Amino acid sequence: MYRPTLTRAWQILDKHAEDAHEHRIADLFADEPQRLEAMSIRGAGVYLDFSKNLLSRENFEALLHLAEESPLAERRKAMFAGERINKSESRPVLHTALRNRSGSPVLVDGNDVMPDIGAVLDQMAAFSRAVRTGKWLGFGGKRMEAVVNIGIGGSDLGPKMVCRALEAFRAPALRCHFVSNVDGADIGDTLKELNPATTLFIVSSKTFTTQETLMNARTALSWFRANGTDSPDALKKHFVGVTANPAAAMEFGIDAGNIFRFWDWVGGRYSLWSSIGLPIALAVGDDGFRELLGGAHDMDRHFLEAPLDKNMPVVLGLLGIWYINFLGAQTHAVIPYSQRMEYLPAFLQQLDMESNGKSVDIEGNEVEWATGPILWGEPGTNGQHAFFQLLHQGTRFVPIDFIAAIAADPGTEDHHAALLSNMLAQANAFMDGSPPDDKRLFARCPGNRPSNVILLDELTPRSLGALIALYEHKVFVQGVIWNINSFDQWGVELGKRLAKAIAADDPERTARFDASTRHLMEMIKAAPRRSRPGAGNTVERRDDA
Ligand code: F6P
Repeated sequence: MYRPTLTRAWQILDKHAEDAHEHRIADLFADEPQRLEAMSIRGAGVYLDFSKNLLSRENFEALLHLAEESPLAERRKAMFAGERINKSESRPVLHTALRNRSGSPVLVDGNDVMPDIGAVLDQMAAFSRAVRTGKWLGFGGKRMEAVVNIGIGGSDLGPKMVCRALEAFRAPALRCHFVSNVDGADIGDTLKELNPATTLFIVSSKTFTTQETLMNARTALSWFRANGTDSPDALKKHFVGVTANPAAAMEFGIDAGNIFRFWDWVGGRYSLWSSIGLPIALAVGDDGFRELLGGAHDMDRHFLEAPLDKNMPVVLGLLGIWYINFLGAQTHAVIPYSQRMEYLPAFLQQLDMESNGKSVDIEGNEVEWATGPILWGEPGTNGQHAFFQLLHQGTRFVPIDFIAAIAADPGTEDHHAALLSNMLAQANAFMDGSPPDDKRLFARCPGNRPSNVILLDELTPRSLGALIALYEHKVFVQGVIWNINSFDQWGVELGKRLAKAIAADDPERTARFDASTRHLMEMIKAAPRRSRPGAGNTVERRDDA
């Protein structure tokens, strides 16, 4: 039976950790002349410099032994082969099949899933081409100018992050909006800017049962009927569905021909490569979407083929294990030096924390080791003016990933040079700290704070696809070493059930709640309904529709 703490490597790493904080990263460069060469990797269009980590060659070798002693090789093989590695839901985990360019089949229950995947890709391509060329027109004969994706979690964060990151590749005449929160302000603030005659709604939900998404979709429908038209033919032009539950989508009122399906062996937080990526295909075109898939496939190949010490997902995963399980890190910061990657940390939060925020291993035992970190981040340079003070002089140990593209968008070269100079300066400052002759303790930055630098040659669909897949596989590597199931999310169900009970306001069920919750419910119920003139009424009639 595998338990990470029973491996020889874990015992050795425990020993190494006793004095790890006494090493200076800067000294390791002096001690290890080949350090940069040994601790940098280029693959799948991505460059990773992990030399500024609090990690000696000896520590790194012990981490590599941990990977070898873990079931990583067999679990990686099992995932790509479509085995049911998601044990608690008895499902395969095949986001890699969605971008499989190898031409080889991928079998689920003996059936090759590649033809179905290809058919949906073709359906997405035809639809995005029709919308972008104006062949697909709204009820008044006008082209679509706005796409509103209604979804939450994996049905929102991935496409939203990618559409924003690839702004330079967006069709100028089509703007993508993302509505996710059940807070009426989210859909209200979005709809008040839009014209129903030129708006396409995508209702995205793997289960098609998510309360927030269905409520927002119903509000969108009411708004459309109140401000546009309620003819069934019109609705067909303006509402499409993306789901693994076509029956529920049709029940909701989505026309069968407007459903883009995916499958239960695609996890929500791993689904942007599926028809959940429809907003991406609309924004950057089918070619751009297939380039995104291609980049992810490049990273899949790298993950499958590169030796462990030159395997980026393995190295990032092991570094996280070193910091979380041996050096006491509670959180991990991801700081993209790119305003267009502003939603990457939020996307990675779900990817990492919903995958590895677990405390029971795959055998059903409580784990005796730390698992997924708290992942957070904001773009640089803004972070430098918000939380970098804590990172430089605080009492916390926070490993950082810096991410940037080397190439500037044309015309922004001066800005880009300033952006990248700041990133390199910060990574150096975190490592070296203040010059030793600065004796003012209050001003001193101790340094010795580790970071990775991840560079893309250019921010393109392909390089972004590789970057996202890099983090997907990093999460996988850590989940295997921690021996947890990274692909279920039972922890989110309890809150959903309680929210339904509270919303139902059924005295019998409410009586079972604690005094605090009951009092808060009473306070909210008793509060006077404040209605300000022009309050964000999500279905108010527009006078210019
Ligand atoms: O957060 C829980 C969750 O189930 C996520 O895993 C999922 O991405 C999200 O809710 C939305 O689920 P659906 O796509 O089924 O609406």
